[in-house]
Amino acid sequence: VERTLVLVKPDGVRRGLSGEVLRRIEAKGYSLVAVELKQATTELLAAHYAEHEGKPFYQPLVDFMLSGPALAVVAEGQGVIPGFRSLAGATNPTEAAPGTIRGDLGRDWGLKVQQNLVHGSDSPESAAREIGLWFPNL
Ligand code: GTP
Ligand code: MG
Repeated sequence: VERTLVLVKPDGVRRGLSGEVLRRIEAKGYSLVAVELKQATTELLAAHYAEHEGKPFYQPLVDFMLSGPALAVVAEGQGVIPGFRSLAGATNPTEAAPGTIRGDLGRDWGLKVQQNLVHGSDSPESAAREIGLWFPNL
């Protein structure tokens, strides 16, 4: 079965929304395979966000992701990779539809689009790579 990596980013953990994100994943019918509160390191984030290196938002994004622990989750189920991205909603919380995690719970904090509560892998290749980074023992 398909697996994806979900992160409740530091803003979501700080706001006490970890349980709400897990609730939505489970309510949709996906299974939790692994859940761990984890403080990211610069090395982990450099690998995780390699595709964004050099973009103007890269360093602010990494700094934000280092600002506190994230809840790392491996979720499993048919179609879970696109399925979780549809639960998450559009990248910018202001544009994300109501009913989605970012649309219901996120808002625009000035220019800080990176504070959009969650991450979800965007392809089977990304999912395999990201699960390996966040859960090397899985
Ligand atoms: P993830 O599930 O977190 O990967 O989000 P995504 O796939 O919707 O977005 P993408 O992979 O393109 O970007 C990764 C993360 O970088 C986003 O979730 C945002 O936190 C941040 N980000 C992306 N684009 C911008 C931007 O234009 N400005 C800022 N400040 N942050 C951005
Ligand atoms: Mg992405």
